[in-house]
Amino acid sequence: MAQAPGPAKLDHLLDRNVAWAQRRTRDDPTFFVRMSEQQTPKYLWIGCSDSRVTANDVLDLDPGEVFVHRNIANVAHSSDMNLLAVLEYAVNVLRVQHVIVCGHYGCGGIERALGDDRSALVDFWLQPLMMFYRKHKAVFDALPDRRSRLDLMCEINVEMQVRRVAATPIVENAWLHKMPLYVYGWVYGTADGLLRKLGPTLSSLAERDSLVSIDDRLLMPVEPQSGVRQQAIDAFTALLDGKSSR
Ligand code: CO
Repeated sequence: MAQAPGPAKLDHLLDRNVAWAQRRTRDDPTFFVRMSEQQTPKYLWIGCSDSRVTANDVLDLDPGEVFVHRNIANVAHSSDMNLLAVLEYAVNVLRVQHVIVCGHYGCGGIERALGDDRSALVDFWLQPLMMFYRKHKAVFDALPDRRSRLDLMCEINVEMQVRRVAATPIVENAWLHKMPLYVYGWVYGTADGLLRKLGPTLSSLAERDSLVSIDDRLLMPVEPQSGVRQQAIDAFTALLDGKSSR
């Protein structure tokens, strides 16, 4: 007969928590006093649930500095009450002015959308991506390999979700009332820890409405990084052992 499982043993996590809280207090004696009073994040992060892409770590921010929503493949469904409630609270209550939609290369959700298996609940979640991929399969098939197709879909997905966030009544209402609110599209490289700007960056209804459709966007090259930041990325990636720039 199989043995019944013993009590859950996560004491090591609780121990780590105590050590962390002690370290924080030692480094900054009023840290938790400030945290207990209020949160005043400047940013909303809409990212993937992937365990490697944690907003605070990637942005090097402390607790209290970024409001976070994550789901598989950072999808903004227009009927997702979870996302909408987070977005509304961030914009209307916390007065966050910067909404970052961040995807990542090597996203398992995107990879699944590009495959054939349709046996799980997540396939309903990923349906918009599957439909987009199917519609433009010829464009993706023209790429040299599976990795290139996945990278492109990771990038296009970010741009698609930026458009969707910008189409929510919450963001529309903010822009109608001239509230300063920016929506950004970024992608994170799990192999080098670097964020890359993809665009579009939107701050008004006019900007949103002047965008080409996501279908047309697929046929354009992704905007290159500009200037100093690209040089910094190039220098850093040269330091990596050359296996992969992503
Ligand atoms: Co992912």
